[in-house]
Amino acid sequence: MPGVAGKIAFITGAGSGIGRATARVLAQGGADVALCDINLAAAEEVAREIGTTGRRAIVLRVDVTRLDEVTSAVEKTQRDLGRVDILLSNAGIAEQAPLIEITEEQWDRMFNVHLTGAYNCFRAVLPGMRQRNWGRLVSTSSMGAFTGGVRLSHYCAAKAGIAGLTISMASELARTGITVNAVAPGVIDTPMVQESPPRWVERMTKSIPMRRLGKPEDIAYAVALPSPELAPVINATFPFNRMSAPFHV
Ligand SMILES: NC(=O)c1ccc[n+]([C@@H]2O[C@H](COP(=O)([O-])OP(=O)(O)OC[C@H]3O[C@@H](n4cnc5c(N)ncnc54)[C@H](O)[C@@H]3O)[C@@H](O)[C@H]2O)c1
Repeated sequence: MPGVAGKIAFITGAGSGIGRATARVLAQGGADVALCDINLAAAEEVAREIGTTGRRAIVLRVDVTRLDEVTSAVEKTQRDLGRVDILLSNAGIAEQAPLIEITEEQWDRMFNVHLTGAYNCFRAVLPGMRQRNWGRLVSTSSMGAFTGGVRLSHYCAAKAGIAGLTISMASELARTGITVNAVAPGVIDTPMVQESPPRWVERMTKSIPMRRLGKPEDIAYAVALPSPELAPVINATFPFNRMSAPFHV
C-alpha cells in the first residue's frame, strides 16, 4: 500500500466491519493505528491481530458523539504514537423505521453518531494536521446518501450530511496539504447488515448485479487510496454496480 507506510491512522468504529478491515489493510501497508470504538473488547481483538504484524496498535474507548472523548483520544494517540496523519471517521449505527415512528431521540442519536461524530473527529485531528500541513480525512458516508432508502430517512439524511461536510471541508482545506474524502459504500457484509431484517438484505442482494454483498475489504482498500501522496482531489464516481464501489466525494 504505497504511501501508507510510517503513517499514523485514527479509526473510529474500528472494532467491527469496515473499520476493522481498514485497520488491517492500513497496518498491512505499514501504518500504526489508533483503534477507537465504544466496544472496547472488539477493538482489543483487532489490536491483538495487528500486533502480530509488527505494527503498533493502541485501543481507545471512545463515544464519537462526545467531543471531549474524541479530543482525549486524539491527544493520547499523539502522545503514544506521535501524531494523527489519517482519520477514518467511520463509527456508525443502523436501524429501520418509517419516519412517523422515529422518535426525536432516535433521530438525534442517528445524527449525533454519524454527522456530529465526523465533526468531532475533524475538530480534534485538524489542529495537528494544520500545523504539519499534511493530513488525510476520510469519512464513511453511504450510497443511501444519494439514493435514499425506505425506512431509512434518518440514516440516509445523516449520511447525506457527511457528503456535504466532506465537500465543504475539501474546499475549505483545498490550499493545504490536507485532503478530505468520503467513501459511500453500497451494502457490505458486516455485522450492521447481518443484523438488518433478512428480507431487506435479500432484496438488496438481488438488486446488486453481482448478486452478492460487498466485502468490508473492498471499502478498506478504497479508504486507503486517498491516503498515499496523491494530490488533493474532489472527484465523484457513481457506484453503478450498486454495491461496494467507492464514492469518493
Ligand atoms: N455495512 C454497510 O452496508 C454499510 C453501507 C454504507 C455505509 N456503512 C457505514 O459504514 C460504517 C461502518 O459500518 P459497518 O457496516 O462496519 O458496521 P458495524 O456495526 O460492523 O461497525 C460499526 C462500529 O461502530 C461502533 N460504534 C457505534 N456507535 C459508536 C459510537 N457512538 N462511538 C464509537 N463507536 C461506535 C460499533 O461498536 C461498531 O464497532 C458506518 O458508518 C455505516 O453506517 C455501512
